[in-house]
Amino acid sequence: MDYFGVIGNPISHSLSPRIHELFAEQTSQELAYEALLADLDAFEFTVEAFRKTGGKGLNVTLPFKGQAWEYAIDRAARADRVKAVNVLRFDAGGQVHGDSTDGLGLLRDLAGNGLEPKGRRVLLLGAGGAARSVLGDLMDAAPASITIANRSLARARDLAALFPEGGERLAARGFDELAGQSYELIINATSAGLAGEQLPLPEGLLAVGGGCYDLAYGAGATPFLDWARRNGAAKSCDGLGMLVEQAAESFYLWRGVRPRAAPVINALREEQAR
Ligand code: ATR
Repeated sequence: MDYFGVIGNPISHSLSPRIHELFAEQTSQELAYEALLADLDAFEFTVEAFRKTGGKGLNVTLPFKGQAWEYAIDRAARADRVKAVNVLRFDAGGQVHGDSTDGLGLLRDLAGNGLEPKGRRVLLLGAGGAARSVLGDLMDAAPASITIANRSLARARDLAALFPEGGERLAARGFDELAGQSYELIINATSAGLAGEQLPLPEGLLAVGGGCYDLAYGAGATPFLDWARRNGAAKSCDGLGMLVEQAAESFYLWRGVRPRAAPVINALREEQAR
């Protein structure tokens, strides 16, 4: 039996063990997957202990994606671009491979919901770790433009500066500079909703026929998705699909088999509704 897991702090509410259980069933793979709580100053220690017990790979969630990037010896280019790792793979020779599948997970779920960034004016709300982890893949998806808007303008500018390849297509604004602008796809990567807080978004920000996506799911996505509905979004989604899609890509990196995300997304939504 091969051992995998997800490491984070907090971790007890993680859906990843259930997602990977459903993937294993779907693909007839035998594996065990557990949630690992690491103390904030004990990421490496906890990973090493997991490896000593034969662990083959880990998903990494908040707040350890930056530390996982430093820990990984052999990193995928897409992980280096965003300086974050959400999947670790430990090979038989003792090598530590790191990758970042969040951006791909977002793109797959956007596509699954008819919200492809291609050719659209995209607004990315937030400039923290979550925004950074998806920005590279978003830019690769050929949007007409991407504007990063953040409460702290300096942080939005710092994030934009990490992606010089964005050129004129990539801009940074403060929330107070959004009046009069309109976007066809608005993606919320702030953590405001997790605190139940509304973002100060002006009227008219969402273009007619535009769509909204929240990287959060569950209660954390409610304030932004309420805003989306009130502002006439043609389509709005929470980030559950992205969570499952990034996990599917992790599973593929570990097992060489890519599970289908849609049945797992549906199963989780049914379980949550119960
Ligand atoms: P994460 O890893 O989830 O991105 P983070 O790096 O702490 O966490 O970033 C949180 C993001 O949510 C930031 O963009 C933050 O804005 P600031 O950089 O200005 O702090 C944003 N955020 C959190 N609470 C917010 C609120 N109430 N209103 C607006 N933005 C908020």
